[in-house]
Order: sequence, then structure tokens, then C-alpha cells
Amino acid sequence: MKRTALMTEVGRNWDEFHSTDVSRKLPFFSREGRLYDCLFSQQFDRALLNHLFAVADRLRSVTQAKAGADAVARLLAHKRAMLYFVQPSTRTFLSFLNACHILGLKTSEIRDTSTSSEMKGESPEDTVRTFSSYVDLIIMRHPTPGFVEKTAWFMNRVKRPVPVINGGSGKDQHPTQALLDVYTLHRSLPGGPEGKTLVMVGDLKRGRTVRSLSYLMKNYPGVKLVFVSPPQLRMEADILDFLKRHGIPYRETDDFASVMPEADAIYMTRIQDEHDVAGESKSLDLSRFHFRAEHLKVIKPTTIIMHPLPRRHEIAPAVDEDERAVFWRQERNGMWARAALISYIFGVDDQIRMA
Ligand code: NCD
Repeated sequence: MKRTALMTEVGRNWDEFHSTDVSRKLPFFSREGRLYDCLFSQQFDRALLNHLFAVADRLRSVTQAKAGADAVARLLAHKRAMLYFVQPSTRTFLSFLNACHILGLKTSEIRDTSTSSEMKGESPEDTVRTFSSYVDLIIMRHPTPGFVEKTAWFMNRVKRPVPVINGGSGKDQHPTQALLDVYTLHRSLPGGPEGKTLVMVGDLKRGRTVRSLSYLMKNYPGVKLVFVSPPQLRMEADILDFLKRHGIPYRETDDFASVMPEADAIYMTRIQDEHDVAGESKSLDLSRFHFRAEHLKVIKPTTIIMHPLPRRHEIAPAVDEDERAVFWRQERNGMWARAALISYIFGVDDQIRMA
């Protein structure tokens, strides 16, 4: 459906729009055949993923020399970005900030609503609308599921629209984390994710990274997913339905040790106890869902160990020295993947080339 038709049909009423199936909403968040707002990982198809990874690879090499880095830093020197991160963040914030700086974008930030006019009673909607008066891009992380999408929805309707990138929305989605995760799978697994077994471990119920990553797997035929969690923290039904609809094989278990030998990639996650109502995760024995140094002998010589970070006890620090532990590289991949995405949104991706 065309963007304009969707705007007239359901685009006038937020609640109606919000409850519309994601596949029908996607045109609303694109312009001239190009992704404009980045909100859901369902927006990435295989061609776009391949393109963004090629741009990210190019950015890495071009910026190694000063002349290349200077040229790239001129590409968006006339643009400004707002980073509105009102939920804790270290690497998503820093990698976006540095991605902006690589491309020359100037940045402003709010990291705590207690320092914004929300403290004076301004609505979050008015606060984010204010950003569009000053900047050309909004990158945001917000605790309320759907609020990033709502921001993009009304930003598309104001006189001076600006693109919105989702840096993590509640328990919902974290599409650019999925982007950098798949970029890491491409860089670290020969032949990329296709045909591989990906084991996701931990809090699958409340972790937005594993949700967004699962959606992306529809682009990789032959991928098999294994979900490892305590019964209380299993993957939600909406994701399992999506996998069934797209014929992506998956199975669920609480026996991590038994699936380690078959994994090509192990994706560890943190227990998201900030969502506990009464400390319910504290009563769980989570040690069975930890990756310890002795497990390095059990996995294949080619298996990679990933983590969106931050970690607590899920991966023993002794594991870091092993070549198969790729999470620190994964973290750095995030900066390049996000810079590639921003360059694509502004249509300067094709100007990133070797001098
Ligand atoms: C993740 C997040 O915020 O969802 N962190 C990140 O962005 N790298 C994972 C987490 O907090 O556990």
C-alpha cells in the first residue's frame, strides 16, 4: 500500500495505526523506496542488509586514513542529530554518538527526563516534537513499548518531519542491535548465518534483542533456532507464531549443556530483572544458563559466542581470551553498522568510497 493511502486509511488515529499489522505499516516509514524511520527489524530485507554490511565494511576501511575519514566526516556536516535516551544505555548510546560523529553530524542529547521539561509536566509527545524544531534526525531509547513508533508516526505528520531511529523500545524491539548482530554473524561465521544453528540463551521473554534478532532470521534460509531459557522466561508466542508462519525451524529447551555441541553461534543474554514485579527472577537458579570456561571444550572449534552486553554472570570473564568469544568485536561492529544505516537514511551511502 502507498504511504499516502495508509495515512488516510489508518494514519489519522494512533491507536488504530498502532494495532495495524507491521507488514501493512512499513510503507508509512519509507520515503521514495528507501527506509526513512528505523523502528522494527521486519523493515530489513536481505538486499538492504547486504547493502548496509557492504557500506559498513567500506566505512571501516575508508576511515583508516585521515583523508578518507575527513571526506566521510564532511558527508553530513550540515546535519544535526538528537539522542534522546531516557533508559540506561552505554554502548547503544556511545556507538550511535560516534557513528554520527564519523559522518560529521553534530549531536545533542537528553539522557534523563529529570533534566528535561518533562519534569515541569510537559508530555513526552511534546518533548520529542520539540526536537524536530532543531535537528534532522532523532535517535531514541524509551521504556514505554510503542512510544518510539508513536514518535515516528507523528513526526511523519508534522510540517518539518525528521527520521526516527529506534535505539530500544521497552521489551519490544531493538532493531539496530539485530542489525549489528547479523553483521557480526556475517563477519565471524564463514558463509554467514545461512544454514547455521543459532542458540539464544537467557531471558527470552523480556529481552528485546532476541526478539528483533528472531525477526531478522526470515532473511536466512536454513537457519535453525534453539531457544534456551528457564520455563518462566520462554520466548513469547508472537515471535514463535512469526517463526512458524515463515517456516523457520525452532525448538525450546531448558537444558543448555545438551545443545552446546550443535551450536554455530551462541547468543547469551542478561536476565532483564528491571521488569520484575516482585523480584521473581531472583528465585530462579540461573547458573545452568551461564557459559563458563569449561564449556569452551564442549563447543565446536568454529562456534562463536555473542552477547549484546552488558553482561553479569552469563559469560565468565575467562572466556573473553578465547578467539571464539566475539562480543567485544560485536560491540564495535555496532558503531559501523549504525553509521552505515544513518548514511543510508540520508542517501549519502553511495558517496562512501576509497579515495
Ligand atoms: C541490550 C538492551 O538494552 O536491550 N543492551 C544493548 O543495547 N546492547 C541488552 C540488555 O540490556 O540486556
